[in-house]
Amino acid sequence: MSDLLFLRAEAIRGLGICHVSFLMFFFLNPFVSQMVRAQSNDASIRFDKETKVFRIDAADTSYVLGINEVKQVQTLYWGKRLSMDDTFAAPHSASGNSSFDLSTNTTPQEFVAWGGGVYIEPDLKVTFPDGNRDLVLQYQSHTIDGRLLTLRLKDISREVYVDLQYEADPITGVLRRSAQVENKTASPLNIGQIASGTWNLPRGTDYRLRYLTGRWAGEWRLQEQRIQPGKTVLESRRGSTGDQNNPWFAIDRDGSNDQDHGDVWFGALGWSGSWRISIEQDQVQQVRVTGGPNDFDFNYRLAAGERLQTPNFYAGYSHDGIGGASRLLHRFELGSILPNAPHPKLRPVLYNSWEPTGFNVDEAGQESLAEKAATIGVERFVVDDGWFGQRSGDKAGLGDWNVNPVKFPHGLRPLIDKVHSLGMDFGLWVEPEMVNPNSDLYRKHPDWVLNFPGRPRTEGRNQLMLNLARPDVRAYVFQFLDSLLNENDIAFLKWDYNRNWSEPGWPAVAPEEQKKVYITYVQNLYSILEELRRRHPHVEIESCSGGGGRVDLGIMQYTDEVWPSDNTDAFDRLLIQDGFTYAYTPGVMMAWVTDSPTWVNQRTLSLEYRFLSSMQGSLGIGADLNHWKPQDFETAKKMVAQYKQIRETVQRGSLYRLISPQNGSEYSVTESIAEDQKLAVAFAFLHSSQMLYPFPRIYLRGLKADVTYRIKALDGKLSTGSPAVASGAFWMQHGVDVDLRGDFQAAAFTLEAVSK
Ligand code: DGJ
Repeated sequence: MSDLLFLRAEAIRGLGICHVSFLMFFFLNPFVSQMVRAQSNDASIRFDKETKVFRIDAADTSYVLGINEVKQVQTLYWGKRLSMDDTFAAPHSASGNSSFDLSTNTTPQEFVAWGGGVYIEPDLKVTFPDGNRDLVLQYQSHTIDGRLLTLRLKDISREVYVDLQYEADPITGVLRRSAQVENKTASPLNIGQIASGTWNLPRGTDYRLRYLTGRWAGEWRLQEQRIQPGKTVLESRRGSTGDQNNPWFAIDRDGSNDQDHGDVWFGALGWSGSWRISIEQDQVQQVRVTGGPNDFDFNYRLAAGERLQTPNFYAGYSHDGIGGASRLLHRFELGSILPNAPHPKLRPVLYNSWEPTGFNVDEAGQESLAEKAATIGVERFVVDDGWFGQRSGDKAGLGDWNVNPVKFPHGLRPLIDKVHSLGMDFGLWVEPEMVNPNSDLYRKHPDWVLNFPGRPRTEGRNQLMLNLARPDVRAYVFQFLDSLLNENDIAFLKWDYNRNWSEPGWPAVAPEEQKKVYITYVQNLYSILEELRRRHPHVEIESCSGGGGRVDLGIMQYTDEVWPSDNTDAFDRLLIQDGFTYAYTPGVMMAWVTDSPTWVNQRTLSLEYRFLSSMQGSLGIGADLNHWKPQDFETAKKMVAQYKQIRETVQRGSLYRLISPQNGSEYSVTESIAEDQKLAVAFAFLHSSQMLYPFPRIYLRGLKADVTYRIKALDGKLSTGSPAVASGAFWMQHGVDVDLRGDFQAAAFTLEAVSK
């Protein structure tokens, strides 16, 4: 952690220096319009007036683009950082292949407007009121403001402007891209498709795509496929992020890459509504990745004088394999995305009784669980679904956010006081965007839900979607949450969302405005979260969507943690957590220890195994403490204490996948290492021993070779042959043997620096 702070401070100091060095450099070199010191962990943006080339250097990455002779913005390079002396010739648009493949399709453009003859994926497609649908954007001007480059484009004849924004993170080299469309014509125009930008990869035919798919209780399945001519579309049409696909991709070179070696280009979209990322290998074998809000059923009417800003599309490059790519993304999320970044708070150990009690929460029952949770070192006690309205199951109550007087006759106050007196803070479950038809809210405001008049209102889990795009619904949701937080000492909200959209009508506005719901809904969601956080800065929030259905870099700007899956089977979780961490940091990944046999697979797992699986992320307990034996409490107490020793390393450190659980592997091993490389923790899991084979040797990564580390078993067994202390080189080259045999066995150990 301290190194991270140091690097960040360096980067900020770098910006301070920039003004001085910029001025000196500017006079010496008229082609340079602005420079922010350029070294690793710094960012610089340079512009060569002669060639019209922009060069962005940040951390270990260079990104180069230029304005070609027809004023298109063209990608020139994206990859490992180049020498500052390397120069680029003035860009030229590609020649078309034939009369069938015009240059507009073969030039690697950064932002493609649909006009002229464009057959590749466009970033922007508009319709003017006169029926004209032709848009041809040309570079007009640019500004460089510290780490932000903005290119202003304009249509060749109409007053339509697009600002392309590029912002480089000096710590990781991750670039943020976004586009803003401005309608300066006298009439409205209809945007039928809009993306944040296109990422063009270097020409190649050996690319491999990784992406994440899933479903409820089976999220975060890692997929790999070779990129072939044609298009792969990752998307959600669900109104929210969804778990069928997650808005993340990584592309590497098949054959020459592994976990920690080789070129990887990766990206993630910061959008919690319907989205789409297309990965296209075109007819001249160029690969381009375009992403933004989904264009399915989409239209955004942009009135005269209005602007529309796209979501942020982040992308980066790693020379250190897919493991390096995810480590950069984790660092970026911790340093730039999460609330309180670059110092997001560590996740406390929490308790939640959802699995044992379901909707049957009441004052006495929760107090009794809280007493037990406190004895094992739990720091936050969370009351889940069932505390409000007429909520005795999932058929009623959503929308009526008043405390249920039968379950909590004196309100929440006595329970909250009790939780505080036990040394824990208090958290509460809410599902603000939903309503049950069987609720006072729906009886009063049946028009508040997404619907098409006269058509069925399809229910999911017996609930309907409130239309958060409506100003009155937005106000209601904000108001009840604000009051809840004003009236109760609540440290944490678990913000749930248990269905996706259907009949997405917004009949209260004119027909031509109705499809704006896809954008306005999400904007209002973000604005509620932002305003709540501003008014209640101590309150933390979890993004949950029946599991991992709303995890993306958009919602993560407002939420401190996420719930990856309702599947809490500790063995299934190995695969779920492995997939999750390709895109998202373990620092936000909640993982509960629940009961065995699990409700999911009826699999029996030891308490130690369940703890070690959950300790790879942000530890929580979701088991029925009323049925625990004294020995279980002892084990849990010990393991919670151990977790607190390694928590910072797990949540903030660098994650290495030493043995992958993918593809039916019998083994899984992860290692987290602290930023200062003084502490590493490794977790090893065995599915089943077979044919007398021993567990594979574990080779640590990322240690300092010449530093001595002491090995200590957290739980489970180290082989008796292991020395107590050895150099980092020894642990990385010779490795460590763990003595795991049997079914569903687990072990963990730490390596702590004892010298230098
Ligand atoms: C779905 C969540 O994922 C669960 O953890 C729980 O909060 C339920 N909803 C409550 O209805």
